[in-house]
Amino acid sequence: MAVAQRFVCRECGRESLRWEGRCPGCDAWNAFDEAAPAPGRRRSGGAAPTESAGPRRLGDASGPAPDRLGVGLGDFDRVLGGGVVEGSIALLGGAPGIGKSTLLLQAAAAIAGRGPDVLYVSGEESEEQVRRRAERLGGGAARVLFAAETSVESVIAMAARLGPALLCVDSIQTTVVDGVVSAPGSITQVRDAADALRSFAKRSGTPTFLVGHVTKGGGIAGPRTLEHLVDVVLHFEGVRGEDARLLRATKNRFGRVGELAVYRMGEGGLAEVEDPGRTLFEERVPGPGSALTVTIEGARAVPVEVQALTSGSSQPSPRRMTTGYPARRLAMLLAVLERRGGISLERREVFVNVVNGFRISDPGADAGVLAALVSAELDRVVPPTAAFLGEAGLSGELRGIGERATRLRELARIGLRDVLLPPGPEGAARPADAPGGLAVHPVSSVRELIAWVRRHGAPVADGGPGGA
Ligand code: TYD
Ligand code: MG
Repeated sequence: MAVAQRFVCRECGRESLRWEGRCPGCDAWNAFDEAAPAPGRRRSGGAAPTESAGPRRLGDASGPAPDRLGVGLGDFDRVLGGGVVEGSIALLGGAPGIGKSTLLLQAAAAIAGRGPDVLYVSGEESEEQVRRRAERLGGGAARVLFAAETSVESVIAMAARLGPALLCVDSIQTTVVDGVVSAPGSITQVRDAADALRSFAKRSGTPTFLVGHVTKGGGIAGPRTLEHLVDVVLHFEGVRGEDARLLRATKNRFGRVGELAVYRMGEGGLAEVEDPGRTLFEERVPGPGSALTVTIEGARAVPVEVQALTSGSSQPSPRRMTTGYPARRLAMLLAVLERRGGISLERREVFVNVVNGFRISDPGADAGVLAALVSAELDRVVPPTAAFLGEAGLSGELRGIGERATRLRELARIGLRDVLLPPGPEGAARPADAPGGLAVHPVSSVRELIAWVRRHGAPVADGGPGGA
């Protein structure tokens, strides 16, 4: 049978039977690579299809909960939904140098230290480099089985022979499949290697972690299809120059997404920050343009600090820079401040930063960003024990938020004393769910929030690190 030629777009994974200069899928130029022929492709080691058990009624199929292997490392297991699931395949993505290899080796060490074998293969680093890292980490790291290997067939053969409790492949971009002509890291290599490892994981029940580098756009390099192919996608993030690192799941077939673990990179590797909210609050240095709020991550309320700076600009279109908060939402807040709050930042440069690499995607935290902007523009330091909650609406109103009780409890726990909050369904009265020790100040509009900051904020000259 004649074998059809196949080309795959490096950027978006689109397949074509002929080479094209410009991808019809994503408009990328010169992005088509020749791929392995299609018939019987990517079924590495697969047997002929057999019907597994046949269909069962959903109501009958109350199968046992999946077997999970606890890792340790603090909230790592929680991010996974309760540990590593047998036969699952997970992708750990993050920028180069963020600590992916360190995190994975620590996870491997935590398991190996309790007895089971863990196989760690790296095509990124030499045995010597990994050995030095293992010495630094200490503990069970010395027991981890290591191989410097890039061939996916060899990795699978090794794992099949050793039967490890966990297989770690660092990284999927350096792993190659025999017989695939394109370069390591190209879309076909990455996808075919991941596919082969996935079928091995499913067949053998070996849970597998793949490390994947992240591109500038924040996606895991290689095809989007890689994210579809795996069961779990983890992202490891942090801010350059800061030592906090956040681990979160953006996809999880076995648990909820959005759970968060916070680590710090130190001399002996990554150490978990056990109580990120309290740590943040204790280490915080209040100043103008700083305000606290609390977001929901998974099932948890996480207090975060928002910083803002406004300054004069001679540019026709002043800069708006934001880190950790969506740029479009910031544009909306600036419009609301101007039209409904009477504070115009049209001719000002505006910078917003969510401290420690946290990202706010929860509109309930809008009030915190507004408070930081107002505090920056008015040069007033908001009381360090105050937090701001509420979703901004286009009419300048502040709207109620979800998971209010969880957020208030967390604020009280870390020692805050004042919270500004839109009145709940019960009106302006003190909400029944507010814990003791927390004074609730109802604010129902951006105007009221501005007035509160004017009234209670300390002028910068009176102190604070921004003071003259
Ligand atoms: P690494 O895990 O190699 O990052 P990635 O695999 O994501 O590229 O480590 C990143 C950085 O962490 C590296 O610059 C060295 C530093 N590091 C420490 O500060 N302390 C340690 O104990 C270790 C192992 C690494
Ligand atoms: Mg690495």
